[in-house]
Amino acid sequence: MMMKIKAQLAEAILGGVLSIAPDCGMDAEGVQNLLEYPPDPAMGDIALPCFKLAKILRRSPVQIAATLAPLVAGDCIERAEAVNGYLNIYLSGEYLANALIPEILEKKESYGAPDFGKGKTVVLDYSSPNVAKPFHIGHLGTTVIGHSLKRLHEFAGYKCVGINYLGDWGTQFGKLILAYRLWGSKEQIEEGGIDELVKLYVKINNAISGNEEQGIAPNKEYADQARAEFHKMELGDEENLALWKWFIKISLDEYEKTYKQLGITFDSYLGESFYTDKMPAQVEKLREMGLLKIDDGASIVDLEQYGMPPCLILKRDGSTLYPTRDIAAAVYRKGEYNFDKCIYVTSNQQILHFQQWFKVVELMGYDWYEGLVHVPYGTVSVNGAKLATRTGNVVLLKDLFAAAIEKVTEIMEEKNPALKGREDIAEAVGVGAIVFYYLSNNRIKDINFNMEDALSFDGNTGPYVQYTYARACSILEKAGDETLKAVDSVTITTPQERALCIVLSQYEEKVRMAIRDYEPSVVTRYILDVATAFNRFYHECSIFGAEDPAVKASRLALTEATKHVLGSAFGLICLRKTEKI
Ligand code: ARG
Repeated sequence: MMMKIKAQLAEAILGGVLSIAPDCGMDAEGVQNLLEYPPDPAMGDIALPCFKLAKILRRSPVQIAATLAPLVAGDCIERAEAVNGYLNIYLSGEYLANALIPEILEKKESYGAPDFGKGKTVVLDYSSPNVAKPFHIGHLGTTVIGHSLKRLHEFAGYKCVGINYLGDWGTQFGKLILAYRLWGSKEQIEEGGIDELVKLYVKINNAISGNEEQGIAPNKEYADQARAEFHKMELGDEENLALWKWFIKISLDEYEKTYKQLGITFDSYLGESFYTDKMPAQVEKLREMGLLKIDDGASIVDLEQYGMPPCLILKRDGSTLYPTRDIAAAVYRKGEYNFDKCIYVTSNQQILHFQQWFKVVELMGYDWYEGLVHVPYGTVSVNGAKLATRTGNVVLLKDLFAAAIEKVTEIMEEKNPALKGREDIAEAVGVGAIVFYYLSNNRIKDINFNMEDALSFDGNTGPYVQYTYARACSILEKAGDETLKAVDSVTITTPQERALCIVLSQYEEKVRMAIRDYEPSVVTRYILDVATAFNRFYHECSIFGAEDPAVKASRLALTEATKHVLGSAFGLICLRKTEKI
C-alpha cells in the first residue's frame, strides 16, 4: 500500500525535477529511493530531503522543496510543505485507511506478500548441527535466522527447500565409537540420550588431548584407535556403521524436540555423509581443469590472486575436507533443485570458508556460483547463567528454552492463575521471548543474552508483542461480528488511528527490505512498531465506549487488521501466535 503511494509520489516529484532539468537522468526509482519516513509525525508521513537533488539540479534545497511542494497532490495527499530543504508530505488518513483496511481484512495474513519470488526456487542450508556434539546456543542463530529467511522467501512466492546439513561424518565418530566401547553401555545411552553421547565425546576428547591442569598426558594410543575406528566406517564396517546410525538417530530425536518448540521442520536432512561418493567427481574435475596444486602433499586450490589463503581439497592422506564436501553438495543441489539462490546461514567464523569455496565453484566454470549466498551472524553469549554447567562451558539450546519456559510459567501463575492450556502458552511465550530477543538485533552483531530483559512483559520483548496480539484477539472476541462489515467505510478521528494505519501500510516494504538484506530483524523491529502504534491507539481511543457506531466499527476493523499483520509477521520470525496469555 505504502509502496503504491510512494511510487505515485515519485512520479509527481519526478515531473517537477524534469521540468527544472530535463536532462538530469533521474528516474522514478531514483526519486523513490530518496523518500524517507520522518522520525516525528509532525514532519510529515513521508519526506523528501532535497539535499541530494541540489547537486543535480544546481539549486538550493530550499528552492527545490518550494518548487516541488505544489506539484505533490492527489487523493491520498492531504498537503505538502516545504520546510528547511525538506518536502514534508502529509497523507490523508481517511483515504489511506479506506484503501488499506479493506484490503487487509480481505487478504488477512497474506496481506503484504510480495510476489517477486514466483517461479523461483531457493535452497536454504541452516541449523546443521554436528551430530554428537552439543546443540548449543551458538546454533540459535543459524536455526532461527535460517528458518525466518525461509519463511520470508516463501512469503514472497519462492519455492523453498530447507536443508539440515547435518555434520554426520568425520573423525569425531571414530572417537565416539571408541569411547562407547571403552566406557559406554546401551542402557545408559538409551536412557540418557544425547547428553550421554556428549559426555562420552567430552571424555574421549579430554583423554586424547590431555589436560595439563589435571596432569593428564595426551593419549596417543586413543587417538590412533579413534582414527582407525573411523577408517573402518569409511571402509563400510557394518558394526561401526550401525553404531553410527544409532548415534545419529539419538541425536536427531533430541534436536527434533527443540525444532518442535520453535515450529521448525526441514525438507531434507541430507548431511555431510551423503556426499562421500559425490566428491571424487568434483575432485577429478578440479584436477582436469588444472586447478589443483600439490602443496606439502595436500591438494589445494591456490587463491592468492584473489587475496585469500588456499582452499584445501584433499589432505596428505587423500581424505576430503569440509570445503570439498560443500562443493560436492552445491553441485548436487543445483542438479536436484535447480535453485536460483542457495543460502547458507552460519556464524561469522566461517566467512572465509564460504568465500573460498564459492570462488572455487566459480573457477570450475559453474555459472550458477552467483546464486550462492553466505549469511553470517555474530556470536552469542549468555549473561550470568548457571546454565553453562551441564556440559562444560557451553549453554545448550534446550536448557536455555527450558529456563525461559520455567520463568514464564512462574510469571503467568502469578498474573493469570485461571488461564487454560498454560503449558502450551508458556512454551510459546518462553521460546518466543528468546527468539524475539535474539532477532531484535542486526544479525552480524555479537549479542549477550540477558534472560531478565528477554522475558520482561513491559520492554520491547516477545512477551510484550505476543501479549499485544492476545489483546487484539480478545477485543475481537468480545465484539463478535461487529467489524467493518457493519459500516461501508473506515472513519478516522484521531492521530493514533491514523498513525496505526501508516504503520500497517508499510508492511510489504519491510518484508522486501528483510529479504533484500537477509535480515529478519527488520521484521522484528517492525512488529514492535505495530505493537506500539496499536497500544497507543488502544489506550487513547475507546473502542467499546465509542458513541458513533461507525467509529466503533472502524476501530474494530483497525484491530482486526492489526491482528492479521501481527499474526503474519510473527510467522515470518518463528514466533507463535498466542490468542490468550
Ligand atoms: N556443521 C557445521 C557446523 O556446525 C555447519 C554447516 C554449515 N553448512 C555448510 N554447508 N557448510 O559448524
